[in-house]
Amino acid sequence: MTTRDALRHTRIPLAHGTGAIPAVGFGTLIPDPLATKQATMTALEVGFRHFDCAERYRNEEAVGDAMQASIKAGTVRREDLFVTTKLWNTNHRPERVKPAFEASRRRLQIDDIDCYLIHTPFAFQPGEEQDPRDEHGQVIYDSGVTLAETWQALERLVDEGQCKAIGLSDITLEKLREIVAVARIKPAAVQVESHPYLPEWELLEFCREQGIVLLAFAALGHGLDPKVLDDPVITSIARRVHKTPAQVALSWAVQRGTAFLTTSTKPRNIRENFDISTLPDDAMQEIRDSITTSVRFNTVVKTGVPGFIPRVR
Ligand SMILES: NC(=O)c1ccc[n+]([C@@H]2O[C@H](COP(=O)([O-])OP(=O)(O)OC[C@H]3O[C@@H](n4cnc5c(N)ncnc54)[C@H](OP(=O)(O)O)[C@@H]3O)[C@@H](O)[C@H]2O)c1
Repeated sequence: MTTRDALRHTRIPLAHGTGAIPAVGFGTLIPDPLATKQATMTALEVGFRHFDCAERYRNEEAVGDAMQASIKAGTVRREDLFVTTKLWNTNHRPERVKPAFEASRRRLQIDDIDCYLIHTPFAFQPGEEQDPRDEHGQVIYDSGVTLAETWQALERLVDEGQCKAIGLSDITLEKLREIVAVARIKPAAVQVESHPYLPEWELLEFCREQGIVLLAFAALGHGLDPKVLDDPVITSIARRVHKTPAQVALSWAVQRGTAFLTTSTKPRNIRENFDISTLPDDAMQEIRDSITTSVRFNTVVKTGVPGFIPRVR
């Protein structure tokens, strides 16, 4: 008889909110709503229980449809799901926060949001245009609101009860320290790019000290060059443990104490990404010590403007 590896069912305790966040998360940054619904249905079917959404992705309704279909079919219960969504940059003004939250909740077709994040620390000109630009094509930022003021508006959502936990995304350690210093309710989670080429050890250490969950996006390096999944350290470990490079990168993410988000529209990859197993200690150490490539693939952290920029070789 084999013991089923429990790594895929890891849940990390949250400082506040619904208790714990499933470490294995499915991201819904998928441009097409129909593909979003299909991928979310597959993810639910193979066992994902943590879904990462955003008003910016313009597909919360499709994710909601998939969740509702599974709940109605009796294959999953709402209380087993952990749903994260995010406030977009154009809604940082405190009076815009609750309407944006309510709109996400409505589109997702759920009563409570398990975790609500400020998508980026950059406020854009408020309004319906998600990507406001001036006549020169430059982003129009909003200097009329601070991140701390937006954070206070999120704290009020928690007070009111329908938002269980709150956090930040695309945040630097420096900015996170600032918010932690003034917060009445400390961030439960921070969502940042992280993978073997961007381990963010210092940020992770701070999060550990503060009881904040680090939620790693682009856990597979977003498929961009240089490819994490082609890294010789990752591929040699994969051969040794009879797993795929993707499974090695994802197991590493959970075993070092982060939650991760990965995305695929291919049923085979979605299944593979859930089917992770514990790596031996020497493999964990080898990834830490032997991978020296360092790459940030997403520039959002600098401007608030989303974008995975393929590197010019
Ligand atoms: N906060 C933010 O600003 C921010 C920014 C970016 C992303 N996110 C969140 O993080 C989520 C994940 O980010 P991501 O899409 O960059 O994740 P990722 O999993 O690193 O990258 C996805 C890419 O990897 C490929 N892939 C997935 N599984 C694979 C496998 N087993 N083998 C080989 N290739 C595989 C996918 O292609 P196929 O579809 O062909 O499988 C896709 O091209 C997003 O959906 C979103 O929820 C947040």
